[in-house]
Amino acid sequence: MRMPLIAGNWKMFKTRSAAAEFAAAFLQNYTASDVEVAILAPFTNLADLVQAFKSSGVKIGAQNMHFADEGAYTGEISPLMLKDLNIDYCIIGHSERRQHFAETDEVVNQKLKAAFRHGINPILCVGEVRSERETGQASAVVTSQLNKALTDIKAREAAGLTVAYEPVWAIGTGLTATPEQAGEMCAVIRQILIDLYGEETADQIRILYGGSVKPDNATELLNQYEIDGALVGGASLDPVNFLNIVQF
Ligand code: PGA
Repeated sequence: MRMPLIAGNWKMFKTRSAAAEFAAAFLQNYTASDVEVAILAPFTNLADLVQAFKSSGVKIGAQNMHFADEGAYTGEISPLMLKDLNIDYCIIGHSERRQHFAETDEVVNQKLKAAFRHGINPILCVGEVRSERETGQASAVVTSQLNKALTDIKAREAAGLTVAYEPVWAIGTGLTATPEQAGEMCAVIRQILIDLYGEETADQIRILYGGSVKPDNATELLNQYEIDGALVGGASLDPVNFLNIVQF
């Protein structure tokens, strides 16, 4: 049985003081349950958040990293540096990285390998853009992204993977995939994972839905058989909204 994961993606929001305010407000009303909670924050907040959430059970993660351990890559952060902060998760291949920072499937594959090498649990994002959905290519696009991202990744490593299905047309737009659309694609992803790694390993991999998840649609989405949790952007910035989603 997979434990659901609700992960908040803060994107490029919150200064250190805003993050501290969030932590205080959230922790006032949060009690750990059988839902795992993670906050994926800007690099500048990670050390503070690891400290603030230390005894709460809430996990902390980054939103991106370089694939090299170190080197002449001005402005980048390495997996070694992240591991040193005791974070648990890192988003890899978010559509905003693919779109604005030209991240290719090959780079995503290298980053995934680096995450596994350092014991950081990657949350791999896949998803089609609107025109691809409208022309019936959504499954093919997601299948290709997943196969390329997982090239040469062994079953032993893949067991620690989380996949987030995030249709790009639903991110930050207020448009949500219907529970059926989301559930169907998550089932496609599960089948690919079974084909690549066998039932036993595929069974351990959580598949999240992301894209305009809000307190009022979370329950319906999370009740879909193949959806093991949510990657929440905008609605994770407010402690009350995020708590409502966590307690779906
Ligand atoms: P959203 O973002 O919830 O604001 O649509 C989701 C994401 O980008 O992970």
